[in-house]
Amino acid sequence: MMVNYNYTAVQKIIDKHERSPEALIAVLQDIQEEYSYLPENLLLYLAKTLGVASSRVYGVATFYENFSLEPKAKYLIKICDGTACHVKKSTEILAALRRELKISEEKRTTSDMLFTVETVSCIGACGLAPAIMINDKIYPRMTPESTVNLLSSIREEETSG
Ligand code: FES
Repeated sequence: MMVNYNYTAVQKIIDKHERSPEALIAVLQDIQEEYSYLPENLLLYLAKTLGVASSRVYGVATFYENFSLEPKAKYLIKICDGTACHVKKSTEILAALRRELKISEEKRTTSDMLFTVETVSCIGACGLAPAIMINDKIYPRMTPESTVNLLSSIREEETSG
C-alpha cells in the first residue's frame, strides 16, 4: 500500500546526514525512528535523493533485522522463543495468539492495526520464562490462557476509550 507522506521530515533527516550515500544506514535508522517502519515510497525517494540504486537501499533495509518494511500495530507483542522460554512452551503461547488474532507467520499484524506479533530470541527475562513483551513492558510466566486474557483486557481498554 502506498501512502503519501510529508517529505519534510525525511528531507531534514537526509540533510542532517549531509546527503551522503555513506550515511545510508544512519538515515534509514532515523527514518524508522520517525515512522516506526520504512515506508516503501520513502525508500524510493531516499534512493533518488542520495543518488544510490533503489536495489541497494532495499538490500540494506532488508538485511538488518532491526529494520521493518511493514507498519507495526499500536501494540507490538514480542514472544520470546529463546531456550528458557521455549522449554516452557512459548510456542503454545504463540499458537494461541495467532489463533486469537487470526494472524500467521506471514500476516503478523491484525487488520485493525491493533496488534503485531513477532518472535524474538531472548528478551532478557529468562528467570521469568515464558515471558512476552508488549511495547516496552515484560509480562512474566505467561500461559496461552493468561495471554489471551491480557489481549482481551487491552481490547476492552481500547474500546472503552
Ligand atoms: S529465553 Fe526468554 S527471556 Fe530469555
